[in-house]
Amino acid sequence: MDLSLHDAVVVVAGSSGGIGRAVAFAFAREGAKVAINGRRSDVLAATGAEIRSATGAEVLPVVADVGTAEGCQTLVSSAVDAFGGINVLFTNAGGPPAKTFEHLTDDDWYRAFQLTLMSTVRLIREALPHVRRSRGAIVNLTSIAAKRPEPSITLSNALRPAVMGLSKSLSEELAPTGVRINDVCPGFIWTGRQEYLAAVRAENAGISTEEEAANKSRQVPLGRYGTPEEVANLVVFLASPAAGYITGTSTLVDGGLYRGLI
Ligand SMILES: NC(=O)c1ccc[n+]([C@@H]2O[C@H](COP(=O)([O-])OP(=O)(O)OC[C@H]3O[C@@H](n4cnc5c(N)ncnc54)[C@H](OP(=O)(O)O)[C@@H]3O)[C@@H](O)[C@H]2O)c1
Repeated sequence: MDLSLHDAVVVVAGSSGGIGRAVAFAFAREGAKVAINGRRSDVLAATGAEIRSATGAEVLPVVADVGTAEGCQTLVSSAVDAFGGINVLFTNAGGPPAKTFEHLTDDDWYRAFQLTLMSTVRLIREALPHVRRSRGAIVNLTSIAAKRPEPSITLSNALRPAVMGLSKSLSEELAPTGVRINDVCPGFIWTGRQEYLAAVRAENAGISTEEEAANKSRQVPLGRYGTPEEVANLVVFLASPAAGYITGTSTLVDGGLYRGLI
């Protein structure tokens, strides 16, 4: 399928590693120009070099913390300065710490609000004039936690639904301008974040991380963790003109883990 993304300008937040990295790679393989992002400059530079040498794409690494207003502005304005506009925005950031309710302080809640909800709000606000001009698309990375709360990730369980509510509401506001917005909700995808969550759960249960990961895999109808590339495939499709009649949706990439009907 021709996804018509050649020369599109794509901003991929939180993309030096994990799912964001796979998303940046996938857009670059389609011939897009990608602005990639993370807080650690060495990791980001290495990812940028890998994407460039594997795909030949134009890659702009932008060191910025999207958990801050300044970081969101820096990411978007750097992409516009370098590439002259934006066709696609992919919002993403690291996950909040895994803690149960009674271990959370006001500061934990405040930081998670900035990282999970406000990064999405601010990135969209900054990028919107450019995405509107190109009649482009926005894809938000959320989580299965928005539909099915997971034990021990209380912050994520509380804040992901807010991102879903935001993008559903925006889908109606933006439709007349030709801008589409959709959410992608991963289940268990094997990345640095998932390894961290498995280690936390393993410690709480007094078992090894490998044992915990095997237990998790057994909960998934497809019997395994997903790969970042399997999430990236959906993101790229939803962002492309091939998905021109799809907006306001939340789609799981979870191997069948979510058992509900809606
Ligand atoms: N993996 C899963 O199974 C899964 C499932 C559901 C939802 N999610 C959510 O999806 C998101 C991505 O998950 P992942 O597994 O890919 O995480 P990951 O492996 O921890 O990778 C996160 C990436 O984002 C960057 N990053 C983190 N915080 C950032 C910030 N404040 N500003 C800019 N860049 C930042 C990291 O680089 P730096 O550290 O250098 O900044 C890294 O490149 C997270 O919110 C996670 O909670 C993941």
